[in-house]
This record gives sequence, C-alpha cells and structure tokens, in this order.
Amino acid sequence: MKTNLHIMEPKQNLLFKGDCLETIQKRLEGFKGKFRLIYIDPPFLSGTQYTLKKKVEGDAGAAGTLSEIPTYNDKWDDLEHYLSFMKPRLKAMKDLLSNDGSFWVHLDWHVSHYVKVILDEIFGYRNFVNEIVWKRTNSPKAQSKGFGAQHDVILLYALDSKGFQTKPIYREHDTKSLKPYSYKDEKGNFRLIEIEAQGIQRTQGRKQFEWRGRTAPYLYKKEKLDKWWDTGMIYRSRNGRYTKKQYLKDSPGILVSDLWYDIAPLQGGAQENTGFLTQKPEALLERVIKSATEKGDLIGDFFAGSGTTAVVAEKNGRRWVICDESQSAIDVISNRLDSISKEHDYSFVDVANRS
Ligand SMILES: C[S@@+](CC[C@H](N)C(=O)[O-])C[C@H]1O[C@@H](n2cnc3c(N)ncnc32)[C@H](O)[C@@H]1O
Repeated sequence: MKTNLHIMEPKQNLLFKGDCLETIQKRLEGFKGKFRLIYIDPPFLSGTQYTLKKKVEGDAGAAGTLSEIPTYNDKWDDLEHYLSFMKPRLKAMKDLLSNDGSFWVHLDWHVSHYVKVILDEIFGYRNFVNEIVWKRTNSPKAQSKGFGAQHDVILLYALDSKGFQTKPIYREHDTKSLKPYSYKDEKGNFRLIEIEAQGIQRTQGRKQFEWRGRTAPYLYKKEKLDKWWDTGMIYRSRNGRYTKKQYLKDSPGILVSDLWYDIAPLQGGAQENTGFLTQKPEALLERVIKSATEKGDLIGDFFAGSGTTAVVAEKNGRRWVICDESQSAIDVISNRLDSISKEHDYSFVDVANRS
C-alpha cells in the first residue's frame, strides 16, 4: 500500500479516510462519469453506537474474551437532520456515475421510504429499477408490538434506465422447483412447456390449425413444431395433447427476482467475519457486482465499513474506490485487503491531511 498520494491516477484502486462528501468534492473531481456501479450501506437512523468486536490476545487472563472498539455512531437528533446529511452525499455520488452506471443503496425499514423519495428526486422516478428485499436474518427478534424485522432493502437506480438491464442471475434448483421435472426419457429429466395458447390468448380467438391430428391455437408456426418433433422435443400425452420438453440439464437454475432470501446472513464463525457489526456477506456484494458490471469496471462504496465492496471487487477483477471516516473501519479494511493478497496495489489517502 502507498500512502497519501497527491495526484490521482484513475487506474489505481483508492482507499480514502474521511467524510464521503468532502472526499468526493476535494479528491474525486476527475472521476465524474467514471463509476459503473456505486453501492452504499450508509447509517440509517438506527440510534445505535456500533462497535468492532475483537478477540483479546496476549494476556493469559483476558485471552479469548471479546473487546469492543467503537466504529461509528448512528445516532441523530431527528429524521430531518439525518436526511439533510444524506441528500448532498447522494447527489455528489450520482455525479460520479457513468451513463450506463447504477446506484445501489442498502437500508432497512427505518428510513428506506424517506431515502427513496430523495432518490426519486435526484435520479428521476423513471430511473428507479428495483426495490430488492434481502432476508438478512433467519431469527428475527420478538417484538413487543408488530412482527420481527427480518429483511433489509436495497434500492436500485440506473443513471438512465432506458438502456439499463441487470444480467440474469440464476440460483440452484431447490426441491420445489425440481418437482415439475418428474418426466424422464433417454436424455434425462424434463418438464412440460405449453405450446398452445392458454387463458385470455385462447379465448381472444387466436387462429387454430391442425398439426399431427390435433387442431389447437398453437403458439408457434408449423415449421418450428416440425423441427421440435424431429429432434424429439415434443411430448404427446395420452389424450393427444402436445407440449414441449424442457430438460433439467438445459435449465440454468431459478432466475433470481427482487426477493433475495437465498444469501445467508454473515455467520459468527465465518472466515470472512471481521467482527465489524454491520459487515455484509461477500455473497451479497458478489451478486450486486456481477449483475451490473464487467471485469475492469470501476466500483465505488463511500460508506465502506469493513470494506466488503472492495474485497469482492478485487476478487472479481473490478477496480474500486472506497471511503470511510472511521479509523477503526480503515484498520479493518487494510487488514482485510492485505489478507486476500499482499501483491495488490492500492493507495491510501487521508482526506484531512493536506500534505
Ligand atoms: C453500515 S456501515 C457499512 C458496512 C459495510 N457495507 C460492510 O460490509 O462492512 C456504514 C459505514 O459508514 C461510515 N460512515 C458514516 N458516516 C460517514 C461519512 N460521512 N463519510 C464516510 N463514511 C461514513 C461508518 O464509519 C461505517 O463504517
């Protein structure tokens, strides 16, 4: 790691210590329009003083116990105070995005709806893409009133939603999604796909024609049906109805929707766990990054915490710029980056340091 650079080269990965607004205004002037993706997981009015839990080493008496180092304070006078902190920072981050860029804001029930209104204003309502729901815990706490909170929200915006498209992401089949693949032939298990119009399409008078002894409102032309027939892709039921076979081996899995319940919360004993209380799992950032960037793209996180975004960017061949104002967060990030590779090159910049 190099320290306290004066001149920025856009190709370098950068770790800033400082307030993110000051960092963007003073140090990232030349980066406007360069970020393909920005993910942030900012404070969210939780009213909590967060800590870093670390195992005490050395002293035989204390060894094995946990020490708690303060990381950041998420206590605010009121909602207005919090929103007036967020608004200029969100605006400044938007200016860093490239035309095909996307902005991901991780929050929960405390303020997600208020921040969405601000983001609609900044990005334009039509550039809102998704509200992703991530199941962040398997064991919600019992509440004195209402239900236990079990999910976070990630608001996704595109700088220009017209040309924007996330890449399809598939997760492995589960018992429920495997059930329809109960048919089998020499090529393996398959399920049946309709080739006749159903429901309203059928009643709206779709043209019918005769094919292999059955007259029906087919969804495909005769030539296509013949081709499938010749390659053994058509299934004929006992009552003479035709459907198309879809083999399990050709299925990429289950297409991921905006409901992310398949990414497990960070486990206490996991190797990636740094003890930073609001650390997010690498699998979550991997899904975000892989769905909206390519290798070599520049990714930003201006509330970096334990540095999950940079770590995942690094592991997946993306360039990164991250920032946090807390010294204990910076310490965790540096150790974490060193632990994945001693070779990688990034520069550390203390924004308050003018030298
Ligand atoms: C929820 S944590 C981020 C956790 C992170 N996603 C992870 O996986 O570890 C929020 C972070 O924002 C930082 N932060 C709060 N206010 C900030 C500011 N004005 N500028 C930069 N960082 C800030 C805090 O120090 C904290 O580390």
